Amino acid sequence: MASPLLFIALFFSCFVTSGAIQWLGLIVNGSSVAWNESEHCKLLAGLVPDQMQLCRRNLELMQSVVTAAKQTRLTCQMAFSDMRWNCSSIELAPRFTPDLLKGTRESAFVYALASATISHTIARACASGELPTCSCGATPAEVAGPSFRWGGCGDNLRYGLQMGSAFVDAPMKSSKSGNQATKVMNLHNNAVGRQVLMDSLETKCKCHGVSGSCSVKTCWKGLQDLPHIADELKSKYLAANKVMHRQMGSRKHLVHKELDIRPVQESELVYLNSSPDYCTRNPKLGSFGTQDRFCNKTSVGSDSCNLMCCGRGYNVYTETIVERCQCKYYWCCYVMCKKCERTVERYVCK
Ligand SMILES: *[C@@H]1O[C@H](CO)[C@@H](O)[C@H](O)[C@H]1NC(C)=O
Ligand SMILES: *[C@@H]1O[C@H](CO)[C@@H](O)[C@H](O)[C@H]1NC(C)=O
Ligand SMILES: *[C@@H]1O[C@H](CO)[C@@H](O)[C@H](O)[C@H]1NC(C)=O
Ligand SMILES: *[C@@H]1O[C@H](CO)[C@@H](O)[C@H](O)[C@H]1NC(C)=O
Repeated sequence: MASPLLFIALFFSCFVTSGAIQWLGLIVNGSSVAWNESEHCKLLAGLVPDQMQLCRRNLELMQSVVTAAKQTRLTCQMAFSDMRWNCSSIELAPRFTPDLLKGTRESAFVYALASATISHTIARACASGELPTCSCGATPAEVAGPSFRWGGCGDNLRYGLQMGSAFVDAPMKSSKSGNQATKVMNLHNNAVGRQVLMDSLETKCKCHGVSGSCSVKTCWKGLQDLPHIADELKSKYLAANKVMHRQMGSRKHLVHKELDIRPVQESELVYLNSSPDYCTRNPKLGSFGTQDRFCNKTSVGSDSCNLMCCGRGYNVYTETIVERCQCKYYWCCYVMCKKCERTVERYVCK
């Protein structure tokens, strides 16, 4: 018979590993407070002590953290709208279902995206002057070309990475309890997210000169937008590798499964446990199933009716949509449109 103590230990180990992205629960309540009193840090019971401390010491950052939580949800759902697993379970934060708790490929993606997003949001907030503790990124070390000079205000990637990683890595680093393999996996995938973010830094320019001749250019380093970063990470999700946490010499490392002797790369997303196919509903596995999902009859990709509906077939509905059409511009200054009706066919998985 299991002792009550073991039971408690199990409970807390579940709590700790699931706590790692519980901050995404700020989507629910995060906007309703002013974040000007350290009491507000208690708002989300799922924050680990180190995150709580970061919150109390950097209250001014919390609005960005809330924004990052919302952006993570939005970009995740956009990136996966054509997939059987469509990131809908992220909305359950901070109470996740097994698809995001069990070291799956999907959790690898969400961790990496959340990690990239929080640093992105902070780096941008610095540049837009929203934060008292940081400002524009440092002037790049590269020498400016003959045709441009450094100027403007670049995203402060350095500060974003520093504060973002402190926040998202804290649950794995600050506690000894919890599943070690899952923690190492989460830390790895968090770092992959930040690497994709760093790689997205590009030179952006603005032209000056007589009537836009662009004889003088001012350039700065800016991050690409989050949908681009989510797309990069989605490619890595599709190519993710299954790993084990195994003794290698004196320490434990993540290694690929049998027969695959390549070392785990810093650029690849990794997962510990295989996912269900997400075709049928199975709450135990965190699968919501694809019944009633829309599919695309002409697509040959993952949103095709064949793949999305897992071969079960689909129902066709016709829907009438009303839209603005034949718009005319009248000088000055308004636009008048007619209302047009159009019927579209919708395909819905059985
Ligand atoms: C925090 O902000 C709210 C709303 O703006 C205000 O009512 C409250 O007095 C502020 N608290 C502190 C400690 O500044
Ligand atoms: C949001 O706030 C309500 C009321 O304070 C609380 O019951 C709930 O647990 C909070 N939700 C999250 C996700 O923190
Ligand atoms: C995502 O999938 C869930 C579960 O199948 C479904 O309820 C939801 O409507 C889907 N969301 C979108 C935007 O397709
Ligand atoms: C369906 O897929 C085709 C081919 O990929 C694409 O051109 C079309 O826009 C899609 N339709 C919808 C409603 O998403």
